[in-house]
Amino acid sequence: MAHAPSPSSPQTVLVTGAAGYIGSVLVGLLLDAGYRVRGLDNLMFGGQGLLAYMNRPGFEFVNGDIRDQQTVTAAMAGISAVVHLAAIVGDPACKAEPDLAKTVNGAGARLLADTAIDANIKRFVFASTCSNYGKMPDPTGYVEETTPLNPVSLYAELKVAFEEHLLNLGRPSFEPVCLRFATVYGLSPRPRFDLTVNEFTRELTLGRKLEIYGERFWRPYCHVVDLARACLLAVESPAELVSYQAFNVGDTRENYQKLTLAGLIVEQLPETESLISYVSRDEDPRDYRVRFGKIRKALGFTITRRIPDGIKEIIEALRSGLIVDPDDSRYTNRRSVSTTAT
Ligand SMILES: NC(=O)c1ccc[n+]([C@@H]2O[C@H](COP(=O)([O-])OP(=O)(O)OC[C@H]3O[C@@H](n4cnc5c(N)ncnc54)[C@H](O)[C@@H]3O)[C@@H](O)[C@H]2O)c1
Repeated sequence: MAHAPSPSSPQTVLVTGAAGYIGSVLVGLLLDAGYRVRGLDNLMFGGQGLLAYMNRPGFEFVNGDIRDQQTVTAAMAGISAVVHLAAIVGDPACKAEPDLAKTVNGAGARLLADTAIDANIKRFVFASTCSNYGKMPDPTGYVEETTPLNPVSLYAELKVAFEEHLLNLGRPSFEPVCLRFATVYGLSPRPRFDLTVNEFTRELTLGRKLEIYGERFWRPYCHVVDLARACLLAVESPAELVSYQAFNVGDTRENYQKLTLAGLIVEQLPETESLISYVSRDEDPRDYRVRFGKIRKALGFTITRRIPDGIKEIIEALRSGLIVDPDDSRYTNRRSVSTTAT
């Protein structure tokens, strides 16, 4: 899929949230594909994920905030495409700091899009989420891009609002693409252990008890490398296929109940089965099974990894000691650090 940019392809890509879990994988894929990359991030979880790229030709980093007009205007100079990942990520983080979430995921995102339009940048790829579907109207069925959105958290409400803003801009010279990511898992230069697969695997690898709630709820999953590949594809695809479109990103076979995920971990860690218990908790009302046929048919997107691959790499990273303190706050978004709004 990844290839050197043709003369008509974008040359320098601005990645917001470049130091994050997905961004720090995407930067590598873009550089490998021959793009120049400018990463913009305010380093809420540190910059570790970008260190390996600092001596790669074509990479530059801007430590700044997407809510700051001057920063954003300067960051857009000479840019051909934007991949917008920066956000307050996840329901718990947005619930903990709603004002911060609104300024970053709402106003900050709009500032980026407006500045991109002013700078005549065409392609604008937005990291949205399958959380937008909320609870399925029919729990035996599937949702797809045409299903009405039903956000059940501030996080998803803000994603839906910005998607609507982008998709209704109606400017022929602007090419917004919304990618509704499945719940992500797997290793990245900025590991996250507040994601279901990664968290369950960490707990069981470390021999801890694991309480699972909502074990029958459905959710789609996708490996972090495959989500980053989808961003690259959205940058490279012809406008007539992607402009003003929303795509679910994942694979229809990768919808799982948490119960099944736990079973897949136990297959690799059989001695941990007795550590798992199922509890009832009235907390997370999201329940959705998603179809991913549109991105496969329109753009030829297929995944390269499945859940057991992600479980395996997390187990290996922990057992080998590569991740010294997996409980470190750098590896979770649950308590996001407040930064000054500008
Ligand atoms: N992880 C998932 O399961 C998932 C699923 C669906 C969608 N997404 C979306 O993908 C994107 C990336 O997610 P991630 O998992 O890499 O999250 P992440 O938290 O690891 O990365 C987000 C990055 O944005 C940066 N950031 C936050 N506010 C900023 C600001 N005001 N200015 C500049 N930088 C700022 C943070 O420092 C962080 O490095 C997000 O938009 C998220 O909503 C993620």
